Amino acid sequence: MSLFTQSNNAPGLFISFEGIDGAGKSTHIQAFADELVKKYPKHEIVLTREPGGTALGEKLREILLHHPMHLETEALLMFAARREHLATVIEPALAEGKILISDRFTDASFAYQGGGRGLDLAKLYELEVWVQMRLANNDSGDGAGKRYVLQPDLTFLFDLPSETAESRRSAARDPDKFEQLNTDFFEKVRLEYLRRAQDDAARFHLIDASQSKEVIWKILQEAISNI
Ligand code: TMP
Repeated sequence: MSLFTQSNNAPGLFISFEGIDGAGKSTHIQAFADELVKKYPKHEIVLTREPGGTALGEKLREILLHHPMHLETEALLMFAARREHLATVIEPALAEGKILISDRFTDASFAYQGGGRGLDLAKLYELEVWVQMRLANNDSGDGAGKRYVLQPDLTFLFDLPSETAESRRSAARDPDKFEQLNTDFFEKVRLEYLRRAQDDAARFHLIDASQSKEVIWKILQEAISNI
């Protein structure tokens, strides 16, 4: 079955890439998008990211990645940027049948603000519902529209031990606020990512990111053949 026929009540396709900093997901996103263009020449591909993806979101990204703030402020700003991203980029693209690929989405908030920083997951679930709850087209005629929480149709989770990710990160210059955090923090981020993946196994495609770039690229190509 094509992923296009799945969730979100829209003709488009929503794909997200996730993983701890240093997992290597960003290396593959552009090549993945190029490969999808070849497979679906009639579908426009939108490549975007969080936090960011809109003019306002990019301003919030700058603040979020470089300024210290209260944990709840951080979570609220992540979801504020996401609300704008959904309203002005993601949902219009999906409605027009485009393929939208986002470098991170809500799983990152659970992993970083929840797992890593320790924000109560109940608060994150509230924000997720607030920002992503939608009313499906009601074709039952009973006046009661079906509600659903908009999620990516497919999420690639690049998973690897936090020590390995740290040694990859240390090669990068000028780390941002998150990249400066220690291995313990990233191990907690990783565990929350894995919990989310277990909770929604049909959506997640787990990738062992400790493998070589070539092997990971083969896995992604294989995944594209199923899209
Ligand atoms: P990036 O470096 O992959 O572009 O992501 C920016 C940083 O923002 C990364 O360290 C993860 C973090 N982040 C959160 O803490 N919460 C979120 O909801 C998102 C989307 C990103």
